[in-house]
Amino acid sequence: MTKTIGILTSGGDCAGLNATIRAVALRAHHGYGWKTIGISHGTLGLLSRPVAAEPLDPARLDAALARQGGTFLGTTNRGDPFAFPMSDGTLKDRSAEMHEGLRELHLDGLIGVGGDGSLDILRRLLQPTGLVFIGIPKTIDNDVHQTERAVGYSTAVAIATEALDRLQPTGASHERVMVLEVMGRDAGHIAIAAGIAGGADIVLIPEVSWHLGDVVKRIDSLRHAGRSSALVVVAEAAGDSHQGAGRGDASIGEWLAHRLMEMTGAEVRATVLGHVQRGAPPTAEDRLLAAALGVRAVDLLAAGKADRMVSWWNRSVIDVPLERVVGRSRTVDPDGALIRTARALGICLGDQP
Ligand code: F6P
Repeated sequence: MTKTIGILTSGGDCAGLNATIRAVALRAHHGYGWKTIGISHGTLGLLSRPVAAEPLDPARLDAALARQGGTFLGTTNRGDPFAFPMSDGTLKDRSAEMHEGLRELHLDGLIGVGGDGSLDILRRLLQPTGLVFIGIPKTIDNDVHQTERAVGYSTAVAIATEALDRLQPTGASHERVMVLEVMGRDAGHIAIAAGIAGGADIVLIPEVSWHLGDVVKRIDSLRHAGRSSALVVVAEAAGDSHQGAGRGDASIGEWLAHRLMEMTGAEVRATVLGHVQRGAPPTAEDRLLAAALGVRAVDLLAAGKADRMVSWWNRSVIDVPLERVVGRSRTVDPDGALIRTARALGICLGDQP
């Protein structure tokens, strides 16, 4: 019997989502003769009547799609089904409406592409319906538990690295300290990886407790050694421990640049990279990850598995129970390989000069 599966993308977009959707629909069609329905704008599509969803015709899913950033299905990082923000400012449980929307689609299974928050919400949303759910991890932050890689991270690191490559010559030309703030809501994965790859002198992440005084000392010692410019990478979440230190509304990158200017006397400029890290065509690594995880997610449905997330682990694709994923965040290991590498290269992490 032909089965029909649904797919939606949820949470902040990232590179590689289109490649993931394509891999799922192609595997479903070629591997099993199944139909795939794409649901628009994450769970928001389930609130429209008729439901905002479309069959994904494999003929439309050529390789060009895998090269494109964004998600052609649309996504949302607002609209928690259990506490949906209404126009009058109240929060409403709209999960029952979404269940009704799901019934309208007559699905045999659903694949959700999301970060830890989205996977948690989708899992809880589907539990009372009995609909089989499989998650695929995506987020530039790379902080989903139980997977070494999430779709979108590789591209974000490549963009942040390229930004450092561009900041270095302008910083050197003007003898400036260049501060680059990169994304990562709770984790410093992008910052540490791009910092090493892009030749940063200083990298500040939330997982390593850093002190402004040590950053200042490092800049001073670079100048004494004859270096007239420096590259500093700071993760957006690295500022959480420095709230209230006169920061006001300034981002951590802007605040840091201001303080370093005051304390070192150097000319300092800040670049806040922001959403540029999300919207690019995916790197080859993200396309490969998207393909491998998308295929595995459909194979899990075919094998009758449920409530699992596909994962990249130790150079293999595996799957893990979602209950081991949700409600936790995979932050940078302060004793892990990247931190040790950074220290070995002489990169200052702000915990010593
Ligand atoms: O979780 C992905 C992410 O890009 C974070 O790195 C960042 O803090 C956040 O989303 C930004 O969200 P928004 O797109 O709502 O500004």
